[in-house]
Amino acid sequence: MKRMLSGIKPSGELTLGNYLGALKRFVTYQEEYDMFVFIANLHCITIYQDPTQLKSYLKNAVALYLACGLDPDRSTIFLQTDVPEHAQLGFILSCNTYLGELNRMTQYKDKAASSEGALSVGFYTYPTLMAADILMYDPDFVPVGDDQKQHVELTRDIAERFNNRYSPTFNIPEPLIAKTGARIMSLSEPTKKMSKSDVSDKGVIYLLDEPNIIRKKVRSATTDSCAAINFDPQNQPGISNLIQIVAACQDRSIEDVVATYKDYQYGAFKDAVATIIIDTLTPIQARYKEIINSELLEQTLMKGKEKAQHIARRKLEKVQRKIGLEIKKK
Ligand code: TYM
Repeated sequence: MKRMLSGIKPSGELTLGNYLGALKRFVTYQEEYDMFVFIANLHCITIYQDPTQLKSYLKNAVALYLACGLDPDRSTIFLQTDVPEHAQLGFILSCNTYLGELNRMTQYKDKAASSEGALSVGFYTYPTLMAADILMYDPDFVPVGDDQKQHVELTRDIAERFNNRYSPTFNIPEPLIAKTGARIMSLSEPTKKMSKSDVSDKGVIYLLDEPNIIRKKVRSATTDSCAAINFDPQNQPGISNLIQIVAACQDRSIEDVVATYKDYQYGAFKDAVATIIIDTLTPIQARYKEIINSELLEQTLMKGKEKAQHIARRKLEKVQRKIGLEIKKK
């Protein structure tokens, strides 16, 4: 059975972008793959987080993984810090990564351009920790949204370099990007990605938003003056984003969605989109409410930790031996 691994960094409440670009797909993939999904809590602190708030984001994220349909009997679901080997391998991989490579990361460049020098070293080096998260488990595929593709490509480069310097150690994983839903845009600024860290939440749909809030946000989504339902991200980014959301929620092609709504006025189209999002999220929210205070969350993480750490310990030992970090005779 081929293996897949992915993670989400709950540095805020999870969004419709996280669901359509990542979580929804993990649930499908767990039927066919040996799926590893973790909560990237170390990645959250690359930018300061209020500790009480962070704790609640993490708990909500575990509950949402399960509420969306990840099954702890099928998938290995774990918390990154429950397997401290990630941080150790992260350091080793940072010693096999060049500054120039990190300087080229788009996410870093964008952040550096907008945050006037207040960026942490951890934010800068986080792609090497991400490489460790992945390479630790030798997955064949890493399903991610479009924005993480560059980091998976860097992971491949680091793995190849390590394999050449020492000897074959890591499997070279492939990023797996969805055809639709890989880049859900902000409703209010549809040329920007929908992001949990947006300062204004007008353009962001959170998985736990109440139906009336979802409808309000979709109704006020930015559109254009073309008065036509076309998929044309260049000239009609707002409408194209809504089309993409429907296609990803309902597993339909873009063409099919356009054909259904081509004669709709924008107001009626937005109402239909809101209903589709609400219908998608309502069962998830109901399940979330059932489990958020149950033992299931802790049980899931304990089970996941056991399986993940068993693999991680062996991998780290192998890596350290190859590099020459161990003194004991083996
Ligand atoms: P994060 O938490 O920013 O996003 C988690 C997943 O959701 C996808 N995503 C989106 N997809 C479509 N449209 C959007 N607007 C959107 N916003 C986010 C992301 O592409 C991602 O798949 N560094 C990672 C977490 C991570 C990781 C890993 C992922 C840490 N280690 C190892 C995979 C493998 C991150 O910050 O994702």
